[in-house]
Amino acid sequence: MAKSFAVIGDPIDHSLSPNIHSAAFRELNLDSSYIGYRIPKGELEGGIEGLKKIKINGFNITIPHKIEMMKYLDKMDESCSIIGAVNTVVNNEGVLKGYNTDMDGFLEPLKKRNITIQNSKVLLLGAGGAARAIVAGIAKEKAANIDIVNRTIEKANNLSEFARKLGLSAKVKKIESIDTTIEDYDIIINATSIGLKDEPSPISFEGINEKTVVYDIVYTPMNTDFIKKAKLKNAIIIYGYEMLLGQATRAFEIWHEIKAPYNAMKKSLLGGF
Ligand code: ATR
Repeated sequence: MAKSFAVIGDPIDHSLSPNIHSAAFRELNLDSSYIGYRIPKGELEGGIEGLKKIKINGFNITIPHKIEMMKYLDKMDESCSIIGAVNTVVNNEGVLKGYNTDMDGFLEPLKKRNITIQNSKVLLLGAGGAARAIVAGIAKEKAANIDIVNRTIEKANNLSEFARKLGLSAKVKKIESIDTTIEDYDIIINATSIGLKDEPSPISFEGINEKTVVYDIVYTPMNTDFIKKAKLKNAIIIYGYEMLLGQATRAFEIWHEIKAPYNAMKKSLLGGF
């Protein structure tokens, strides 16, 4: 029977998830479809009802719903309950089960490059749903500590509390103080949506070197200002599309219970730029 999938969020027209999953369906001759569905902030409940009505088989969740979506789940995988945010849902005849594939998706490109997180000093920009999955990953890999910067300070405080609960030493920093201490960090991550609309990087990267890992989770445009500035310093760059691919292949495997065609998915993604 034909299966249907979606990604929900706002904005959604930039999303490359429909391309990636559709490429996998084509590669494996699956009778499935995947669409982007815009649900504005504050309209999640009605949006979910709509998805249930059309008997959607599963969906991904992106900005700004990853945390709020937790309220509408009937069941939760451990990945989702630990992180407190959901990016993948399975709909089994109206019963919604949540998973979080962001943590493993985030770690995969670091592992591929043999970058050790253990004992490293991490700077994280952002404190939303994706940032929570990243903190869980950084804690799991036993970094020395993490400094968190966020526009809304209260959310940064919550996230640092979460980090400490996972055994990771964490501090909240002011964005203004970052440029003067930037050389203290081994890994710098942007988990805000800054860059999606071509906004300039909130940090200057003066003082970083070719050993610093700079990881932007924004994947469109591929070369954000954040990435461009880090490239000028010859930093080790990890692109947002790599995390996107990591979380997408895992979501695919949860829904279809077969191995994801990684190369076909990657090819479609890179063709999208
Ligand atoms: P996701 O689920 O993808 O993490 P989210 O939970 O909505 O999405 O989180 C978005 C992150 O980007 C938050 O850290 C948000 O900051 P606030 O907590 O202050 O809202 C950050 N963000 C979004 N737009 C921003 C902007 N224009 N300037 C600074 N930070 C921004």
